[in-house]
Amino acid sequence: MATTGQESKPGLMGWINKRLPVDQFVRSQLLDYYAPKNFNIWYFFGALSLLVLVIQLLSGIFLTMFYKVGEATAFDSVEYIMREVDYGWLVRYIHSTGASAFFVVVYLHMYRGLMYGSYKAPRELLWLFGMLVYLALMAEAFMGYVLPWGNMSYWGAQVIINLFSTIPVVGGGLVEWIRGDYAIADSTLNRFFALHVAAVPLAIILLVALHLVALRQVGSNNPDGIEIKANKGPDGKPIDGIPFHPYYTVKDLVGVGTFLLAFCTVVFFVPTFNGLFLEAANFEPANPVSTPEDITPSWYFTPYYAILRSIPNQRLGALAMLLAILAFFFLPWLDRSPVKSIRYRSGLYKFFFSIFTVSFCGLMYLGLQKAEEPYVTLARICMAGYFLFFVTLPFYSGKEKTTRVPQRVTFHE
Ligand code: HEM
Repeated sequence: MATTGQESKPGLMGWINKRLPVDQFVRSQLLDYYAPKNFNIWYFFGALSLLVLVIQLLSGIFLTMFYKVGEATAFDSVEYIMREVDYGWLVRYIHSTGASAFFVVVYLHMYRGLMYGSYKAPRELLWLFGMLVYLALMAEAFMGYVLPWGNMSYWGAQVIINLFSTIPVVGGGLVEWIRGDYAIADSTLNRFFALHVAAVPLAIILLVALHLVALRQVGSNNPDGIEIKANKGPDGKPIDGIPFHPYYTVKDLVGVGTFLLAFCTVVFFVPTFNGLFLEAANFEPANPVSTPEDITPSWYFTPYYAILRSIPNQRLGALAMLLAILAFFFLPWLDRSPVKSIRYRSGLYKFFFSIFTVSFCGLMYLGLQKAEEPYVTLARICMAGYFLFFVTLPFYSGKEKTTRVPQRVTFHE
């Protein structure tokens, strides 16, 4: 009788393989999966995003064992975790640092996608799933921030939920529906807890899975923006590719080690990160009659917050903020350049892309400052620079003066 390789394997693995295709999976997804050989440091951040996702899920499960949802108990239960639960402080700081680390690695991951044109055909769906993950991450981080029921949790939730009131006609009713009450209250906290620990993490896991399946379908892009599948050797393997395992599993370990060193340094030595990762006002319990001096969201939301604040009309401000996020969804169709990687794109593209980069970082900084001069004017200038990138792209990208893209990836041993 003919046997397959899996059946012939002796012992426990042979037994398992007959019932679950473990070896077949490892072979198809790691050993026979060829990735471009010219990946650089920017290609660490996808794997690191996965790592932070696991860190957040695990530390979150332990926090949930001791956290007590409810207006009267939430704040004290977090204090209890910090002071009484064995290593509770460590788990909490891992989770709070993890939230910021998530956005650091995801922003760098997205920026890599922008630089190398990884959103362009055939990777549009991969990009869209990524954007949905990003939206879900924002919702997850926002609701998580409300759970300790500190004063910034309360007032942050107040400001963000009130944004929905700018939606014409249904806005007022929608805000009440989200809160579950006439004000931010126990019912709001309860539903945010349910969404933060169950619904949104499940959505994130599902979306990340789809993101990775879409990645496997089209294969990775690379810093040269060349499709390695178009150039195969006699054995049918891409000549510019190398097996994902062991080459990139081992290389990713270097990224993981470096990341964990930085991560542990923050957790053990600067967990509040000077008020950027944990704000001072959140060490006081929620107080509906005392507004914190400045209500600023966490640093990863500040680019959008700066846009919101820089327009005096709140409805227009909210619309501009929404557009600033949604613009990324349309990028695969706004960008009509035949070339993917920034390495071979025109000076004009590099100019607008640099302005976008400086504007995004500027907005991040300005969103953390008081809403006064000169910050407001600077935020308006940065907002213009931000949108300029997206608005101009469809007009010049189709007839850009690009340089010649090489046939093979550039790789220096
Ligand atoms: C939890 C969040 C995320 C996880 C775990 C994740 C995971 C990954 C992994 C493991 C890869 C392959 C390795 C790599 O290319 O670095 C990848 C590729 C990719 N991701 Fe994500 N990702 C996340 C969020 C996002 C977001 C928010 C975007 C952008 C909207 C995005 C866009 C992409 C693109 C375009 C690629 C292909 C890049 C290329 O081949 O050049 N991802 N992702």
